[in-house]
Amino acid sequence: MKVIRTSQPLNDRERNACLFKGDLIIFSQIPAMLELQREMDELIRAHLGDRASLSDLFRSDPQRFAAEMTLLQTSFYKTAQMRDLFMNALEQSGMSIQHNYADKLFLRCVPPTRDSNSQFRGSIGYHRDTWGSNIQHQINWWSPICPISDGNTLTFYPHYWSTPVANTTADWSFEAFRRARQRAQAKSVDAQIDYPYAPQAVEAVSDEGVNLLLDPGDLLCFSSAHLHGSSAEPRSGFRFNLEMRSFGEEDVDWDIPPENVDNAQSQPNYHWFNRISDGAKYSQ
Ligand SMILES: [Fe+2]
Repeated sequence: MKVIRTSQPLNDRERNACLFKGDLIIFSQIPAMLELQREMDELIRAHLGDRASLSDLFRSDPQRFAAEMTLLQTSFYKTAQMRDLFMNALEQSGMSIQHNYADKLFLRCVPPTRDSNSQFRGSIGYHRDTWGSNIQHQINWWSPICPISDGNTLTFYPHYWSTPVANTTADWSFEAFRRARQRAQAKSVDAQIDYPYAPQAVEAVSDEGVNLLLDPGDLLCFSSAHLHGSSAEPRSGFRFNLEMRSFGEEDVDWDIPPENVDNAQSQPNYHWFNRISDGAKYSQ
């Protein structure tokens, strides 16, 4: 697994030829990403105050913190400018947004604790994103909103690029997740969903993993077939990041996606994705 850092755009083919071999690409200091980072910084400050005091608020008044996080997430999803800037950043990295399909742009907040909280879309264990979507040529986009360190970033497990990990893909169902989510929403806005939102690993990994460091304004992309997760020891402060998944229409017929080593699902979930340029559904 090579980590390629570049300030030059790469077109879809050039980029994916690297990603599908298992390499990671960091597009450095993309102008639209820097602008988005400044907007996000202001939004976070408006809801949660100064970043330096976030940990105090999280520990002293967890209920208020959770309420403000909910409001922050709502503001973020209502502000079209955030998604527009992210799409500009993708174009500035060289992507053709007329020929690529993406899911929703997510804002994740990972507090400095091992406890996960679905409300924040918090810390998650190791997984492959392809386990959920079952689209082998899918790729991930990821960018930190504030400075990150070894303890609160993404960890990759390159040994498992070609090594299977026991998992629940044979039994997991998106429909079952959807029903569980509806049941939880019927109870209250912050009720826990009693079904995993994606298939889970069911064995421990032997690899320590590689923590990846990048700066706000940088945009990371990697194959969704990579085993990855949040840093195992999130002791060094909050992490806010933006993330999205995509695939290219021509990749569907391009015969070099990463090998499927352990996903037992049979149907790809193309219906989760919309064309980036105009929101059209993908039709095979
Ligand atoms: Fe992931």
